[in-house]
Amino acid sequence: MTPVEALTRITALRAEVAHHDELYYRRARPEITDFEYDQLKRKLADLEAKFPSADVAAGNVSPTDQVGDDRTEGFATYRHRERMMSLDNTYSPEELHEFHERLVRLIGRDQLAYVVEPKIDGLAVSLTFEKGKLVRAVTRGNGIEGDDITANARTIHSLPRELKTSPDAPIPDIIEIRGEVFLTLAEFQRINKLREEAGEPLYANPRNLAAGTIKQLDPREVAQRKLEIVLYGLGYCEPSTALPTTQSGYHELVRAWGLPTVEKYWPVQGAAETWAAVQELDRLRGKFAYATDGAVVKLDSIPLQREAGATSKSPRWAMAYKFAAERAETRLNAITIQIGRTGVLTPVAELEPVHLAGSTVARATLHNRDEIARKDIRVGDFVFVEKAGEVIPAVVAVNATRRTPACVPYTFPEKCPICATPVVQIEGEVALRCPNYECPVQVRRRVQHFASKACVDIDGLGIAMVDVLVEKGWVKSVADIYRLRRDDLLTLGKSVEKSTDKLLAAIEASKQAELWRFIHGLGVTHVGAAAAKDLALKFGSLDAIAHAKFEDFIADKKSVIEGIGETMAQAIMEHFNDPRNRALVSELSELGLQPAAPVKRVASSVVFAGKTFVLTGTLPTMSREQAAEKIEAAGGKVSGSVSKKTSYVLAGEEAGSKLEKAKSLGVTVIDEAEFLRLLGS
Ligand code: IVH
Repeated sequence: MTPVEALTRITALRAEVAHHDELYYRRARPEITDFEYDQLKRKLADLEAKFPSADVAAGNVSPTDQVGDDRTEGFATYRHRERMMSLDNTYSPEELHEFHERLVRLIGRDQLAYVVEPKIDGLAVSLTFEKGKLVRAVTRGNGIEGDDITANARTIHSLPRELKTSPDAPIPDIIEIRGEVFLTLAEFQRINKLREEAGEPLYANPRNLAAGTIKQLDPREVAQRKLEIVLYGLGYCEPSTALPTTQSGYHELVRAWGLPTVEKYWPVQGAAETWAAVQELDRLRGKFAYATDGAVVKLDSIPLQREAGATSKSPRWAMAYKFAAERAETRLNAITIQIGRTGVLTPVAELEPVHLAGSTVARATLHNRDEIARKDIRVGDFVFVEKAGEVIPAVVAVNATRRTPACVPYTFPEKCPICATPVVQIEGEVALRCPNYECPVQVRRRVQHFASKACVDIDGLGIAMVDVLVEKGWVKSVADIYRLRRDDLLTLGKSVEKSTDKLLAAIEASKQAELWRFIHGLGVTHVGAAAAKDLALKFGSLDAIAHAKFEDFIADKKSVIEGIGETMAQAIMEHFNDPRNRALVSELSELGLQPAAPVKRVASSVVFAGKTFVLTGTLPTMSREQAAEKIEAAGGKVSGSVSKKTSYVLAGEEAGSKLEKAKSLGVTVIDEAEFLRLLGS
């Protein structure tokens, strides 16, 4: 390769890495596996090392010198007191061995003590505690400054607001504690199931969902998902003398402060023990609460860590050994196209079923048109599928050696496979969309979403039933649900009388569902249940929302309704600018919909009716007045003092004597996350 060719290649690779960084860190929607990404970065680093002059000529800083950047719009940025670094990683046992040899040479000792610990596949965060109190949570960002996600982190149940102190665990004035935010597999599956029911695209793995969640602009949406955290390291500390002198000491201290920490770590000596621990971790990791994608090996001694130092992006005293994803080879029988509620076309690989990581895989996502072209995936090819902490498997590559001449390049459909409308490219996105609002799939998905549990919740109108109704041509829009005729439904089978009457009764009853359910059911982009509830309270009717002006949401660049920012306001305006969406609102009202007004709805809340609440301390996302409003609207009472009759104490940060009293009387104490859950139930 000539230097000129190298320069071209380096520039191209940098652009490619930057593209995948953006997808992974900012959008939490990666299109390649971690393994492919690591390969790409390594290829770039190798070339840069071979052609240092080309490296300089290629200008801007190379992504190989950086840690990626997760900062996103809508959050305040905060500068870490001490940099958050990345880790060198490898998939090769030899390279792990070389890491040890390097340290032996560097430090000049034969025996070195390490700690082997799980590499948690979550999202890096740094928590700052001042005088033992949690004051800030920040994402890694670019390593120097990150997004302030304090309000969102406060919804994490297992994260105490205050460190426990004991003679063995004194509390420094200021300390940054590092860790990962994650979602359990069970929680990931729960959320995906809800999304499936609502016809929404699924998240590929818990890490993406956790990353997407922590970056939600509305902490109440975050509180709906049970985020967890694990802490494994210490950053800045004042006074610095307060810290232990070993990494294992860090783990013990973090645990003694009452913070969630890694389930197991292995103190080891030398290379052989390190490798044995890495393998044991691999055997055990399936039982951990979080997904692990590798092992992190760290020098145990902090003074030796300091001696080893760091390169521009990662420490020399630590190394991540990543476990190779389980991979299988199988034939790609077909590529089908799935169409979402908004008409986006997603290609899906239909595979010859193959056993992979404990389950049988018959389908895998292919992301989009560009991805198929980039990997040159053709129907009839033998492909490699992988599942690396990924719950939805991905096609990573084609086995070129097994390609036959019969395999021709795949042409992405130019027309919607369902309604034959020419597809259009969405500006600024790779996705292609069917612009036909009446396309039967879009209709189906819109109706499914509307009728789902998360929205109007019409019993008996599940995915399969909606499919039938749309296919019969009886339902062409959400409004048609309310025009269904008993006679038609009775033709669906022999003894369907009972179920038909049940369904019709459920549809009739749904006319009086709470207003927020209808708002959510309309499927406005970005408007989840929490926002729908706010909109219901503020506007009181569907019609009022449909005719709202931008100023009703944003005045003087500030939100009029707490929790509804500019992006959401814009989406609402766009939605109702479409005459079809506005027409639906008037049709629904003509059909006799009488959504229950928000106050009436919550007044019937079983959880709150007749219950007495005492509020104390500072709540993460709302004032005490706002909380009181919600309690009263839900039929509860707010009292100023704690007694035996108090049902709940809702406690925030710096809760004082009221909290103590509640504890001594055995009154149930809840935090805001729990409170929001109660409100939602
Ligand atoms: S130590 C200076 N330990 O993996 C060393 N990182 O690929 C900083 N990670 O940025 C990191 N589990 O977000 C460390 N047990 C662990 C980890 C861990 C997961 C993440 C972390 C880091 C990334 C590097």
